[in-house]
Amino acid sequence: MTTDLKFPFQKFNEWFEKAKANSAIIEPTAMCLSTVDKNNCPSSRMVLLKKFDENGFCFFTNLTSRKGKELSENKNVALCFYWGILGLQVRIEGEVEKVSIKEADDYFASRRRGSQIGAWASKQSCEMEEWKEFEDRISEIENHFKDQEVPRPPFWSGFRVAPKRIEFWEEGDFRIHKREVFVKNGNSWEIKKLYP
Ligand SMILES: Cc1cc2nc3c(=O)[nH]c(=O)nc-3n(C[C@H](O)[C@H](O)[C@H](O)COP(=O)(O)O)c2cc1C
Repeated sequence: MTTDLKFPFQKFNEWFEKAKANSAIIEPTAMCLSTVDKNNCPSSRMVLLKKFDENGFCFFTNLTSRKGKELSENKNVALCFYWGILGLQVRIEGEVEKVSIKEADDYFASRRRGSQIGAWASKQSCEMEEWKEFEDRISEIENHFKDQEVPRPPFWSGFRVAPKRIEFWEEGDFRIHKREVFVKNGNSWEIKKLYP
């Protein structure tokens, strides 16, 4: 069976709204991002979903971090959301592209000043000698941008995951879970059901 291009995004939105409305879910936007390095070795970490639409799912990060480097070498990624109290999991696979300069600037400008300073000060994923080194960098950056707006660092931006496959998993009793997969096929999505 095939469906309209919007359909899996509408379904994602319904589940996401449920997760956001549930006060027991502390961080509904948290998702596990898996990347692959140039030796085909995977690595995963949590990031926050900052926006999504039919073009994809966006997160922001330091471009020189481990994930940033891996994404420049291999665009294939996987995302995974788990909203345990609702018994829902969403798996997304696709390719990343950088967000536009405007999208990165707009999102950076919306962050709190402390986070903006932190983005400049953190050499994300690099080794540090001692914690004080980072604290000193934060103080330097604070002084540097004193009484000014903090611009977006050139090494900090966002990525959009354009999905090729989206799977919705709903927990059932006795492990009789429901799995529905949308696989992109040109201008439509093929819908498949999988055994749990
Ligand atoms: C709930 C949660 C949300 C996070 N969100 C982000 C994020 O949006 N962007 C980011 O760069 N790191 C985020 N982090 C930190 C990453 O998990 C990770 O430690 C960091 O980005 C360095 O990863 P890397 O060395 O693989 O590049 C988050 C961590 C947690 C636990």
